[in-house]
Amino acid sequence: MALFNSEKLCEGITMRTATKRFLLIYLTFIVVFLALRAIIVPPSFGELTDDYTYRWFRADSVREIMQLDMKFASKEMCAGCHKDKVEFLNRGAHSTLSCETCHGPSIKHVQNPGDNLPEIDTSRALCKLCHEYNPTRPEGFPQKFTDEHGYGRLCVDCHNPHSPWVFKGGVEQ
Ligand code: HEC
Ligand code: HEC
Ligand code: HEC
Ligand code: HEC
Repeated sequence: MALFNSEKLCEGITMRTATKRFLLIYLTFIVVFLALRAIIVPPSFGELTDDYTYRWFRADSVREIMQLDMKFASKEMCAGCHKDKVEFLNRGAHSTLSCETCHGPSIKHVQNPGDNLPEIDTSRALCKLCHEYNPTRPEGFPQKFTDEHGYGRLCVDCHNPHSPWVFKGGVEQ
């Protein structure tokens, strides 16, 4: 075969030795590649499901995430015990918010209400998170320059957080 003949390519190198060296280097690359691949690629990567769902993920990560403790409940779960509050919230301007947006992850409270009361944050900071004037917010979203609104008092001194057009003192709009 021409690749293995003893024709001299240059001083001291025949076609045969050149081909052998080339094949050796080529094989070394393949072996190194396979070894690195075996070390680097996690065992469950690319595991096939019938519909290819997890193909380009480490399938074990899905199983690991499923083992984590849940943190959030849901508005529907809160309604189990705080039906009036949920209905009140759903009627007002904050109807799209979830209870846990303001009260934090509360599944432990749902499972064992007495021992794990959710946070109650009455700070101006909570409301400013969404309502401080910021030109990047969607047009029409209710915003305030809060330095110029509410005389520096707590927002919840005037607004009922669960239905912010309901004002403390019974003034409804
Ligand atoms: C199994 C019944 C139950 C469920 C479900 C439940 N709660 Fe409660 N919750 C209670 C009880 C009991 C209290 C204490 C009595 C009270 O203040 O009404 C309480 C109190 C609270 C308080 C006041 C805490 C305080 O320091 O006074 C908040 C806030 C609250 N719950 C939020 C939630 C949220 C948010 C959810 C849904 C993720 C929820 N609850 C689901 C029973 C429940
Ligand atoms: C916009 C933020 C926000 C949302 C959304 C919200 N809360 Fe509250 N919640 C507050 C604040 C702030 C207080 C404290 C009010 C105060 O002290 O005047 C509070 C107080 C409470 C209390 C204590 C009793 C009371 O009325 O002061 C309960 C119980 C409660 N929330 C349950 C809920 C439930 C259930 C939901 C969902 C239906 C919910 N909250 C949604 C901000 C929120
Ligand atoms: C997670 C974001 C979020 C937080 C926190 C929040 N709000 Fe809101 N607020 C909203 C959304 C969303 C609306 C409804 C906007 C709309 O109708 O376009 C709204 C509506 C309102 C409105 C009615 C404005 C109008 O023009 O109809 C008032 C007043 C208000 N919020 C006050 C408060 C106060 C006071 C707090 C703190 C207790 C608070 N908000 C906390 C998201 C938030
Ligand atoms: C002294 C009582 C008072 C306090 C404190 C207060 N507000 Fe208000 N807020 C009002 C009144 C009254 C209105 C309706 C008139 C107006 O728009 O200024 C209002 C309106 C709003 C609106 C509706 C704006 C719009 O254009 O639709 C938002 C949002 C709001 N407040 C957020 C807040 C936030 C956030 C805080 C705390 C940083 C706060 N408010 C503190 C009394 C108060």
